[in-house]
This record gives sequence, C-alpha cells and structure tokens, in this order.
Amino acid sequence: VRSRRQRQMCIRDRCGIIGINSNKPVSATILNSLKKLEYRGYDSAGIATLSSGLINEVKSEGRVDNLEKNSLVQKMEGTIGIGHVRWATHGLPNSINAHPHSSQNVSVVHNGIIENSTLLKKFLVGKGHKFKSQTDTEVIVHLITENLKTENIVNSIKKTLKSLHGSFALGIIFKDQPDLIVGARRGSPLAVGYGPNENYLGSDSYALKSMTNKITYLNDGEFCVIKKDHVEFFNEDGVKINKKVLELSSSEEKYDKGDYKHFMAKEIEEQPITLKNGINEYIDTSNNDINIYNFPWKSNEISSVTLIGCGTAYHSCLMAKYWFEELTSLDVNVDIASEFRYRKNRFKKDTLYVFVSQSGETADTYAALDLCKQNGMKTCAVVNVIESSIARDSGFVLPIHCGTEIGVASTKAFLGQILILYMLSLKIGLWRNDISKEAFVNKLKDLKELPKLVEKTLLTDNKIQTISGTFNEAKGSMFLGRGFSYPIALEGALKLKELSYVHAEGYPAGEMKHGPLALIEEGMPVVVLAPRDNYYKKTISNMQEVIARGAKVLLITNKSKDEVVSENIWEKIEVESTNEDLLPFLLTIPLQKLAYYSALKKGYDIDKPRNLAKSVTVE
Ligand code: F6R
Repeated sequence: VRSRRQRQMCIRDRCGIIGINSNKPVSATILNSLKKLEYRGYDSAGIATLSSGLINEVKSEGRVDNLEKNSLVQKMEGTIGIGHVRWATHGLPNSINAHPHSSQNVSVVHNGIIENSTLLKKFLVGKGHKFKSQTDTEVIVHLITENLKTENIVNSIKKTLKSLHGSFALGIIFKDQPDLIVGARRGSPLAVGYGPNENYLGSDSYALKSMTNKITYLNDGEFCVIKKDHVEFFNEDGVKINKKVLELSSSEEKYDKGDYKHFMAKEIEEQPITLKNGINEYIDTSNNDINIYNFPWKSNEISSVTLIGCGTAYHSCLMAKYWFEELTSLDVNVDIASEFRYRKNRFKKDTLYVFVSQSGETADTYAALDLCKQNGMKTCAVVNVIESSIARDSGFVLPIHCGTEIGVASTKAFLGQILILYMLSLKIGLWRNDISKEAFVNKLKDLKELPKLVEKTLLTDNKIQTISGTFNEAKGSMFLGRGFSYPIALEGALKLKELSYVHAEGYPAGEMKHGPLALIEEGMPVVVLAPRDNYYKKTISNMQEVIARGAKVLLITNKSKDEVVSENIWEKIEVESTNEDLLPFLLTIPLQKLAYYSALKKGYDIDKPRNLAKSVTVE
C-alpha cells in the first residue's frame, strides 16, 4: 500500500504522448495527433520512428507547427513511431530537451516527473552512459538500455519501472523490435487504441479518436506491449493480465473554428447551444423535473457538500456555494484542489465531495479526489470529458455536455459547469424539501429561457470592443461584485489577465474599504457587477466609493425600467433580465468578450496564452 505522500507525488504529469504501430508510414498521423494533444503543452514537440533498423528523431522548439515545418519530418519514414508535446518542468523548453529521448537502442516519450533522476543519472554515468539533455526522462532511456544487456523486453521494462520514483506515462520503441511499442503508466493517464492492422498509444482518448473508438485505459502500475495485430497487458510484476476494451460513445467529433478567427470566439458564441444541450439532457419537461438517474446516495445520507476545483472550475464551485446555500439546507464548503490535497481535512461520511473540472485530468483536482476515495468519501464529478480520469474514478458523474473546448481560457465549460451545479442544487433542494415543488417548477421555467437570454446578451458586442482598449492601457484593473456576482467578478479578472497579460483583480465589492481602495487612482478601470438583486443598493454604494476616488467604472447590470441612480459612470452595459439565480450566467458574457477583445487588440495568441496549457496535468 502506498503512503498518502507517495500517492500525491504519483499524480503528476505533463505533456502529451502518442504511439502508432502500423503497416503504413506513421509520421504524418503522429503529427496530426500531436496537434490534438497540443492542449496539454506547447513548449516543444518531437517524433521518433524506426526505419532501416535505426531510430530517427526529429524535434523542434515551440508549437507543433514548427515541427511540421521542419523538412526532416516531411522525409521521416517508418511504420512505427512515438511523438510528444512538452510542457517543460525539468530543463529549458528547447529542442534538446524536447522528447523523444533516445539512445542507440531505445527511444522514449514521457509524461510525468522522475523524482530520483539525479541518483539514477549518477549510477548510469558511472556505467558509461552519456546524457544529452537536462531532462529527468533521459535516465529512463539509459536505464532500459542498461537493463536490456541482461534481460528480455518485458523483464527489462519491469526492472526499469521498479527503479523509478515519481509519476509517468511512457511510450517506448526499440531499435531491434520493428513490431513493438511499450506503454507504461504510473500516475499519469495512458490509453491504448485498436485499429485495423494497427494499434495505438495515447495520453487520452481525444488524441486517439480520429483513429479509433475502441480504447483500453491502463491503470497505475500496468504496462503493455503493442504489436500491429494484438496488445498484451502486464501488471507491475510482469504477470500478463486481461483488460476490457471500451467502446467510446462516438467516433471523432468534428470540431473546427468554422468562420471564427479563434476557438475562443466560437466557444463564446456557442454558449446558447451548449446551455440548451445541458438543459435538454437533464430537464424532464413533461414531468417538470431534473433527471439525475442512479444518484447513489439518499438525501438523508448527505448533510454537507464540499466543492473542489482549480482556476475557472474553482470559480464555478464558489458560484455553486451561493446556490446551494440559497436552495438547500446543506452546509457548503469550497476548496481549491491544490490546497485541499495537502491540508489536514476532517473527512465526514455525510459530506458529498464534488470535483469540478472541464478536462477531468487536472492533477491537483485528481489528487483531491483520490484522497477522498482513500478515505471512503462520497465523490461526484462535474466534468466535460467523460472518458477522463476524474470521471472514471468518481463515485458518480454529472457530464456538462458542452462539447470539446479548445481555447485554453475556459468559457463555455464555465457556463456548463455552473449550469449543472445549479441544477444539482435545485434537485437536492427539492429532495430534501428545502424548496417547494412550486418554487422548483418556476425556477425550471426560467432556466429553460436562459439560452435565449444568453443569445441576446451576446449581441452587446461593439461597445465592449471599444472599451477593451482602456483595460489594455491601464496599469491594472479591478472587478467587483457582491453575493452571486462575486465569483463572476473573480472569473472576469482571471479571463482578462490570462488572455491580455494585464493585471486584473477580482474582489468582493464590500471589501474594498478594507485595503484595496488604496489602489484606486485617477483613470483606473474598474468593472462593477451590480445586477438588480438583493445586493444591488450595497454594490452601487461601493461603486460610488471608487468613482469618488477617480476610477473609470464600467457598470454591468441587467435591463430594468428603473434608471441607475449614480453620476459619473464611465460606461454601462445592460444584460438581459431574469431571476436572481440566473443573472450570473448573463453577467459572464460581457466579461468573456472584454478579455477576448483586449487580447485581440494586443495581437496575442488568444487560444494559447503564454505559459499556460489547456489541461494542467502537472502539480
Ligand atoms: C482558465 C482556465 C483554468 C482551468 C483550470 C482547471 O480560463 O481554463 O483556470 O479552469 O486549469 O481546469 P479543469 O477545468 O480542466 O480542471
């Protein structure tokens, strides 16, 4: 049994890997799969194939595009190969540190971190092995090479894996084995795919979907030997095991930018449809109910809920706290996964632990889930990718049904997550008789109108384009809200900073006078979210306090017959009107657009902001 510390260390990962063993040349297909895996990291990329009894390796710094432009890739031959996209942890993001890493006999791609690499390297250098890169991965290459001197393939892999501390998903090819790829997993996700006279290895099913919908996931400690016509699986002791082949729901989802300049723009505009899909999946219109089938626990078995996520998903959790407190009598806690996993938690049997994640692969969120599972807790995942590790390992799954999200900055997945969390809070409220059936039905009625209101709110375009310049030019900006609008203020600030690289801070409007008011100076842009809800008057007072100190206030409120009574508001945007619970959905829209247009004006890479990755599979 691994200790808690070891388990935590094991769930670290980076980058994306792919392997193909076929009768046809593989480099072009590997390149295409790497483009799909780019969301996992885009510091550098590389491919290794076997041809004429030799390992060929081509690597480039930067995006997969750079690798594609490399004339050596165009010429790469070989019907068996591995590829990698990197998000650097050990060593600079350059072409030397890019994967694959190879000796004369072995080539390896790796996701994860080898914690005892320094010791292993010392041992291997002592044996005469020469290292080329600064990576921890290279020790794996030389360790296998060393072990192959005395062992067959399976035993050399078994022996190597036992020497490694840390986390890994590996793809390995061998100079003398023209029909064999080895895959191995500990802590980092890895899947095998099956095709006609060819088989595959990939970090996730998304990378494999264009080739197959038949998948087997490796569990921790397992490794596999992939031949063209069959795949064998082994446990960590090298004993053969049988594994199930799963059929994924659909073959590849067609997802491209269409007429949009960026995926993010498309994903923002898609929100009415994705919300509609989510609503259709869960709401039973004929019975005025929310269908959450096979929920494994009775309502009296739960007296509190703890919501856990990272980044935007954490903001979804914060948002849900307000709804759970409003609509249910449960105690509600919200936690950032990277904090939760290392705290001394008081696990309680009557708590429902909800893990929110678009990708379902976020390392910290997975580690928090794992911790809850080890302590026998009730776990529920709210995820977009239903084949993901978090979905597979949770006690219950609520998919958000918003389709592939490519833009690194989460938009439609955020609305998808808060939609599901809202419906969950409503349903639990009804189960526990915390809200009346009549109130429940009225709220469902409003919810069904939401996609149309989001569609209308999306039309407030021109004004935001103009306003965005001011945010770019300022030293920094603030986003303020109270109550339901506070998590949305945090989300708006996060979007702006991650896309346009300007400092933006989300704050509870009522907290300004306890410190941050000192930041306000003449001309500083401040977004104030003040919808006509219970907090409206209080927020307007806070707004006046910042205006009085020279702030340029962009007020975002909802349409109303009553004028906003305040002087010197710089700009005002009015979203559509609906009940108080649902206003956060509408307030989010102008903030997403503000961030988008700011980054567009600056000419930044909107779908892939610097230093970030779509799936944060590293701790
Ligand atoms: C911000 C953003 C990130 C993610 C976070 C968690 O726009 O997208 O903050 O929300 O990295 O990712 P998931 O939801 O995949 O667990």
